[in-house]
Amino acid sequence: MKITVIGTGYVGLVSGTCFAETGVQVVCVDVDEHKIKMLNNGKIPIYEPGLEDIYKRNVEKGRLSFTTDLKSSLENSEAVFIAVGTPPDEDGSADLKYVLGASSEIGKHMDHYIVVATKSTVPVGTSVKVKAAIQKELQKREVEIPFDVASNPEFLKEGSAVQDFLRPDRIIIGTESEQAIKVMKKLYKPFLLNGHPILFMDITSSEMTKYAANSMLATRISFINEIANLCEIVGADIDAVRRGIGSDPRIGNKFLYPGTGYGGSCFPKDVQALIRTANEKGYPLEILKAVESVNNRQKSTLYQKIFNHFGGKLKGLKFAMWGLAFKPKTDDMREAPSLVIIEKLIEAGAEVVAYDPVAMKEAKRILGNKIGYAKDEYDACIDSDGIILVTEWPEFRLPNFRVLERLLKNKIIFDGRNIYDRAELEEMNFTYYPIGRKPVKS
Ligand code: UDX
Repeated sequence: MKITVIGTGYVGLVSGTCFAETGVQVVCVDVDEHKIKMLNNGKIPIYEPGLEDIYKRNVEKGRLSFTTDLKSSLENSEAVFIAVGTPPDEDGSADLKYVLGASSEIGKHMDHYIVVATKSTVPVGTSVKVKAAIQKELQKREVEIPFDVASNPEFLKEGSAVQDFLRPDRIIIGTESEQAIKVMKKLYKPFLLNGHPILFMDITSSEMTKYAANSMLATRISFINEIANLCEIVGADIDAVRRGIGSDPRIGNKFLYPGTGYGGSCFPKDVQALIRTANEKGYPLEILKAVESVNNRQKSTLYQKIFNHFGGKLKGLKFAMWGLAFKPKTDDMREAPSLVIIEKLIEAGAEVVAYDPVAMKEAKRILGNKIGYAKDEYDACIDSDGIILVTEWPEFRLPNFRVLERLLKNKIIFDGRNIYDRAELEEMNFTYYPIGRKPVKS
């Protein structure tokens, strides 16, 4: 079996590589020559645990290849996956130019029946446009080649994308065609040996499922962040409350951690896109508007705590920032809370020295010399007025507090992820500001 994957970004690369792992012949196509050259020279442009191993193995076995030539890749392919970017345009809606561009290209070059599956997160109704774009090209060529479109949303999490792809909770396929169902079943069967389902539905519902899933998760985060803020005001402890409510199986204990707000490439964009779709249809999606505004406010929570602690006098102070990526195990800083906190601190005249185990290169690209860069988390603390923990990397969980004590000018930790033990810090005379819990003031 042979397939084509268009787009060698995050979703395309992970999907293509993991499909190859089952023995399928996968050709990944991208218009970016530089990227294809890199991939053909053994280098992957993103950091994702486990990806490099599978990529190397499958390239060596000759099952995974990279090209800019869509025409040759489509030859004998049973399915083509569109996994190109859908960046938000000025008004926040997903820009479909790459998705529809790829569709037209397929229409220009296909020469046999093929299933065109959209993996990119696209607004409800896009598959109809994909179909039309392909049909238009076939008409121009004056040929009649059958094809089916399908929607196949991706639920990968950054940092565990390979595991998520190899062992999915579910596969969602939106299509009305029996032939397309057959092809998709064949492709996905090897990933569903764990008994998890492949759900077939109509295209619109499949497109909607992706947005509904991410919006629900984003809602959960904004909800717990609001409750955490209220806990601070009334003197409750969010950690106890979280465990208390999480033991109800209807609520569940996953994805219920308060923090500095959600970031990344999916939640912010998808929440906005769904609000937009609803608006266009004249339906005011109140709940998601609130989710978004709570999240924007939450990104400043740590800054507010710093501001209050120092009575607004931040000029000339220096802070060690631990973690820059929007979450651990990724170098992705898109919509990261760290960026908001840094911006505010700099504006207030403070200095930031940061360390992130993986995102240093990305941070330098985005922030240049706005901040200082440390060689490790301890180095960042030298003569600092406090630690600001933004990303809960495992290696930040058990630092040597005795060493920190010597390095820091002020023994203060602003913990945006509640990873430290209050009692332990109290015993060591640290001042400690968690989220949604009583601070320790030494
Ligand atoms: C998310 C979805 O989980 C995934 O299914 C979809 O395909 C893409 O979007 P991702 O953005 O990689 O994946 O990260 P995720 O692990 O879901 O975290 C998103 C954000 O929520 C992060 O900023 C994280 O710190 C935050 N978060 C998550 C919380 O603040 N609290 C939690 O309890 C969980």
